[in-house]
Amino acid sequence: MKVAVLGAAGGIGQALALLLKLDLPANSELSLYDVAPVTPGVAKDLSHIPTSVKVTGFGGADVAPALEGADVVLISAGVARKPGMDRSDLFNINAGIIKSLVGVVAKVAPEACIGVITNPVNTTVAIAAEVLKDAGVYNKNKLFGITTLDVIRAEEFIADKKGLKAEDLKVNVIGGHSGTTILPLLSQVQNVDFTEQEVIDLTDRIQNAGTEVVNAKAGGGSATLSMARAAALFGVNLVHALSGKQGIVQNAYVEGGNAISPFFTQPLLLGLNGVERVLPVGDLSPFEEQKQKEMLDVLHSDIQLGIDFVKNS
Ligand code: LMR
Repeated sequence: MKVAVLGAAGGIGQALALLLKLDLPANSELSLYDVAPVTPGVAKDLSHIPTSVKVTGFGGADVAPALEGADVVLISAGVARKPGMDRSDLFNINAGIIKSLVGVVAKVAPEACIGVITNPVNTTVAIAAEVLKDAGVYNKNKLFGITTLDVIRAEEFIADKKGLKAEDLKVNVIGGHSGTTILPLLSQVQNVDFTEQEVIDLTDRIQNAGTEVVNAKAGGGSATLSMARAAALFGVNLVHALSGKQGIVQNAYVEGGNAISPFFTQPLLLGLNGVERVLPVGDLSPFEEQKQKEMLDVLHSDIQLGIDFVKNS
């Protein structure tokens, strides 16, 4: 399998490339692209790590060579938040970046699975879908907004609060990837009881965890290392599923899985062709039902913004 990382010289991209070099199955290929001319050097650097994953790197304006033969394309290219900004404030710059990169993916690797990391994910995934539709190559089972960071954060924050091990927990986080659209279903966490106040506090912390990092980095960007870990987990799982490993379930933001929103994050059974089956969200507590209702206006308008951006440009 060949995995391309677009935005590979950035804070997420370099860490993601390192993790993929270490964790992809033997004989995978890793193709790194970024406009930054350092990118072939990043690939050279990684190539000195002795694993049987072959790495190549491409810099400059043309992404096409990096995409030749790609089975999976992970996109982290774009700008990051500064304190006081919402993810939606990145739309003006990142929308155009996603549109042009996905336009080339549509031509060079039309069969590839695409995982979008670039914010605002609620909107950039809708942009990617429209671009792929316009090119006549859209397959909703192969386009994902990567929301794994919300899952690993939820597991870590619960473990921290309750004195448990994060690796023993499994949290279903649904909705989208911004503020109130991130909804951890704490009522479904097995063998852990929460007080009402713990549910309120943990939900709030998980929803605002990205901002916690943005503020702590004090103008130096947003989450890169935890995001890279999350994207690598998703990417490696996807590669295993595409290669025939059965029973792999990951949460991600996809189209057509849920009647309440055109795009929605929920558990997905992955298979040889991307999404094999969208799995049910499961039972929600009254608190979660209310939070799910409250997120819908934001989620719907984030999605519409992406659709309109492509239609009007
Ligand atoms: C995150 O959740 O950390 C990322 O989406 C980056 C951000 O701007 O919050």
